[in-house]
Amino acid sequence: MDSPKASAARKALGFIKDGMVVGLGSGSTAALFIEMLGGKKLDVACVATSHDARAIAVRAGLCLAELDQVKGIDVAVDGADLVDPSRNLIKGMGGALAREKVVDYLAKKFVCVVDESKMKPDFRGIVPVEVIPFAASPVAREIAGEFGAKVSVRCGCGKCGPIVTDNGNWIIDAGFGKVANPGRLESGLQCIPGVVANGIFTRNRPVVVVGGKDRAKVLE
Ligand code: A5P
Repeated sequence: MDSPKASAARKALGFIKDGMVVGLGSGSTAALFIEMLGGKKLDVACVATSHDARAIAVRAGLCLAELDQVKGIDVAVDGADLVDPSRNLIKGMGGALAREKVVDYLAKKFVCVVDESKMKPDFRGIVPVEVIPFAASPVAREIAGEFGAKVSVRCGCGKCGPIVTDNGNWIIDAGFGKVANPGRLESGLQCIPGVVANGIFTRNRPVVVVGGKDRAKVLE
């Protein structure tokens, strides 16, 4: 029997056809999808959104490409930390978000794979913001001052000090109460000098595949 994350990943396989360029998301649900995709032996080229996704894809025998080797992304399959009723997302709790945003927004179809625990009635919680280390202090002050968030630089486990992203940056975790307009907050955070990307995904509205025990439903 599939776990909820595995049933979402398995359902997402149905969106992938021979000849496609596939964006590979990051996190545990996307990892299950990558392993299953490898097992399908399809003729696809894959663009990974993190070192971790790339390593899993290599082990799964998938053919990898960089963005300058493909004309676009046909389908991106990626996880999320929160999905609201309008299918706005929060992503980045695994430390990957900037490359995810590039690939997920480029994709002709963005498929978001989650278990039911990620479906929330309101848009609220921790929004990861990737910043260049040089600008971490002023960015944190501005997010707290202008946007009213509780902020902290994310620190590592098994490492002293800030975690360093695949792009050599730091992450500020910004805690928000209920957000009425996630799209406006996404744009506002992005305008702060030093911000590389933020974990609010409101554009390229995804097809959301919600995994339950041994079954998954598709929201679009
Ligand atoms: C990685 O930083 C994230 O954007 C993941 O996509 C998100 O955290 C979901 O991960 P899980 O599938 O492990 O819950």
